[in-house]
Amino acid sequence: MTPRSYIMRFGGIVLSVAAFVVIGTSFSDDVWSQIARLAARDPGVRSGPAGAGGAFESGLTANEGRAFVNGREQFEEVQSVQGEQLVSDTELGLGPRFNLDSCAGCHAQPEIGGTSPAINPQVEVAKKEGASNDLPPFIKRDGPVREARFKHNPDGTADGGVHALFTITGRRDASGCSLQQPDFRTAVARQNVVFRIPTPLFGAGLIEAIDDDTMLANMHAHSATKQSLGIRGRANRISGQPNTSGNDGTVTRFGWKAQNKSLEIFSGEAYNVEQGITNELFPQERDETPTCYFNATPENRTNFDATDPLEVPSDVVRFAVFMRFLAPPTPAPDTDTIVRGRKLFGDVGCAMCHTPTLHTGKSPVEALRDKDVNLYSDLALHNMGPGLADDVSQGNASGDEFRTAPLWGLGKRIFFLHDGRTKDLLEAIHAHAGFGGGQYVPSEANQVVGQFNRLNEIEKQHLLNFLRSL
Ligand code: HEC
Ligand code: HEC
Repeated sequence: MTPRSYIMRFGGIVLSVAAFVVIGTSFSDDVWSQIARLAARDPGVRSGPAGAGGAFESGLTANEGRAFVNGREQFEEVQSVQGEQLVSDTELGLGPRFNLDSCAGCHAQPEIGGTSPAINPQVEVAKKEGASNDLPPFIKRDGPVREARFKHNPDGTADGGVHALFTITGRRDASGCSLQQPDFRTAVARQNVVFRIPTPLFGAGLIEAIDDDTMLANMHAHSATKQSLGIRGRANRISGQPNTSGNDGTVTRFGWKAQNKSLEIFSGEAYNVEQGITNELFPQERDETPTCYFNATPENRTNFDATDPLEVPSDVVRFAVFMRFLAPPTPAPDTDTIVRGRKLFGDVGCAMCHTPTLHTGKSPVEALRDKDVNLYSDLALHNMGPGLADDVSQGNASGDEFRTAPLWGLGKRIFFLHDGRTKDLLEAIHAHAGFGGGQYVPSEANQVVGQFNRLNEIEKQHLLNFLRSL
């Protein structure tokens, strides 16, 4: 760890130490280790039961409950290129390009519907069924599940699209197909590749059921405090062009840049982008190379001939139902340190972006209607500065803007921030500050992070304990 990060880490408490570092005095290892014991730290992934993964315990009808179970089965289903006639217990449609072969593989921690697990399943899928994929250099067994985007096209124009990691080439259910993977090594060398990790889906139905006006009123609340802290925030909206409200113009809220409107649209897009499975929302293959075109498209659709009503909807609808009825994560019970940490979270200004509670509107589903949503997000976009910027624009969101990440479920998370760059909550907090090239550069969170840094180490520890209780 560099002396600078030590300064950031200790804030005010060891000011004299910091001063010595600034004027160049160096310490022995012994002194550093004594300092380290004083420092607040992320207590790590909370032990005990997952506290997530089930449906709402009340407010669902019997049929809604059955639809949840059915949706979860689809969410866990593993895909192969041509289905179970060639690879048992699989549905057809995988590829020709893909990032993994099931939704549940990426959305796994601490339970199905969550986020990146400890062991990245992308390592195994690279060679599954005889596939001949090289493992991109940024995919590691103990690293986060990742999706890769390129910032620019070879001619320098903006790209921003997802470039699937793998192809079906070499798989025994894809004979005759020969495709090249994108050249990730060159993209890495040119710093042209950026990453996203999966966002957790627990409570997603509640997020979907928040009215736009509720979101907007919250965004405009406490405006004097926000202004004094340099916090702005704006809504992303469904639009044809950046900074317009074309199409239906309502607020979008899913994804790291709040780029996506609904759970159903996200499902349709994820099915095609992550697994290469065409569907009624996204009917065309992203790569139509004829020798790799094995199935009629869309590969998954409404099953008009099904006798069981639960089997009639397409997978996309069933995924959306599963996510909509997935209960929010259960936080740990309050203790003294958690209560103190919650207060400090408000005092230093984290809550100005990470709004503790929003409220749902008039949903037809009782479990979603008129309910508090303890998501710790305003669902708005904020400029987070060059340290976090990925140069990808989506709707109104520009390259340095991200949706305030909902913090519910944080206690059970392994990887943090949009690209999964850290497992350490303190690093995640420090990354909010646009600290680059030895000086502060714009980020709407700069002043709040400064206030966090000025807490003493015990107070910081309360705040971290609170975060791990979520
Ligand atoms: C290869 C890993 C991977 C697979 C497979 C995958 N996802 Fe995701 N999921 C992601 C990533 C990465 C994001 C964040 C994407 C972004 O913001 O650009 C995400 C985000 C989401 C979100 C947004 C949630 C929120 O609150 O922002 C939904 C909904 C979702 N995925 C549903 C699905 C469904 C349904 C499937 C199966 C069809 C699926 N995902 C398969 C990686 C994956
Ligand atoms: C200006 C708005 C803003 C403020 C203030 C702010 N955050 Fe954030 N926070 C964000 C955004 C936006 C992200 C997502 C950034 C990214 O992934 O690139 C985020 C991400 C996080 C994450 C990672 C969550 C994840 O899903 O990986 C944690 C933890 C977090 N914030 C904690 C805090 C704490 C603690 C404070 C107060 C010290 C704070 N934040 C202040 C906007 C803010």
